[in-house]
Amino acid sequence: MSTAGAFLRSLQNELGGSIPFHRFMQAALYHPAFGYYSTRIHTVGRRGDFSTMATLDRSLALGIAAWIEKKSARDVIEVGAGSGQLAHAILTSLGWWKRLRLRYHIVEVSPPLRKAQKKLLSGLRVTWHESLPAALDALSGRAHIFSNELVDAFPCRVFERTAGDWLELHVRIENGRCHEILQSCTVPDSTVFQHPFNAGQRVEVHESYHRWLQDWSPQWKSGAMLTIDYGDTMPTLYHRRPAGSLRGYAAHQVLNGEDIYQAPGRCDLTADVNFSDIETWGEQQGWRCVSHSSLANFLAPKLPTRFQTAAEAFRVLEQSHGTLFPDRKKSASQPLLGCLIPKV
Ligand SMILES: C[S@@+](CC[C@H](N)C(=O)[O-])C[C@H]1O[C@@H](n2cnc3c(N)ncnc32)[C@H](O)[C@@H]1O
Repeated sequence: MSTAGAFLRSLQNELGGSIPFHRFMQAALYHPAFGYYSTRIHTVGRRGDFSTMATLDRSLALGIAAWIEKKSARDVIEVGAGSGQLAHAILTSLGWWKRLRLRYHIVEVSPPLRKAQKKLLSGLRVTWHESLPAALDALSGRAHIFSNELVDAFPCRVFERTAGDWLELHVRIENGRCHEILQSCTVPDSTVFQHPFNAGQRVEVHESYHRWLQDWSPQWKSGAMLTIDYGDTMPTLYHRRPAGSLRGYAAHQVLNGEDIYQAPGRCDLTADVNFSDIETWGEQQGWRCVSHSSLANFLAPKLPTRFQTAAEAFRVLEQSHGTLFPDRKKSASQPLLGCLIPKV
């Protein structure tokens, strides 16, 4: 039996006969011995299993570089830097003087990707940190933070609406194959449960991301945070998607249904991000929503036409926290965009 199979079987026994989906996804992506991000992934893009906006086109890097310049940022933390291509394009687009002033930090959990980043970014001034709390500690809590396609890589819980209630998706291993079963549950804090869905609707909640935010939030004293990912706000996120958005990627092929369970650790697993949750969870931490738009809007007019449709499927949320940095005071008289997206 494979290491993954032996681990999941023993987890199933320990948990009483089935594995909640998020525990399966946590192991499949991050188990130190077989997790996809811990062992298998070596790059992102054409030579990997999936591409991201960052690896497809330079316009994203230019948009983030413009955001960094607008903030006159000294310390910027990128969380989940993938192959390092985005960091490289941002830093090289900034120009020598601006680069000299900027301190670029990366927090990356994947050992193979950290190695790839260090190779690509050698010669540029970048500091790696073990975790976001460690990075914030080193910067006395004052930093601007951004991520691209990070939230979707966090394990999610999956729920299905039935006539009476919400049930939670579990995985059960039988005769060497994984099958889906539904179990009763207590639903977590999410805007998704405020919507009256029809029976059969599946939804995902990135509860592990919520917990992660709560962990480091007390250490973040001031700055702005840009969260970029595919997804939408409620209720648009699940419009005409009764099966939800959970899927896998291997060799640039999309995996759906029970195919996503058959090779744990050998494919990426992901789900669209509910930006109503991301905004609400930030507000609970006392963060302010500065702006919220599609990526197409954020990058206009620099976005090449061929990426227009793809960028419409991505959202960019800027939140801020604490007293404004000195540079932000200069622009305090300019009106902030505010959150244009109606709350559910
Ligand atoms: C889908 S990839 C996106 C990579 C890159 N941002 C891009 O756009 O190409 C997700 C990235 O987040 C990293 N990651 C996942 N969870 C993380 C965490 N808790 N802290 C830091 N990095 C994390 C992964 O290792 C990977 O680098």
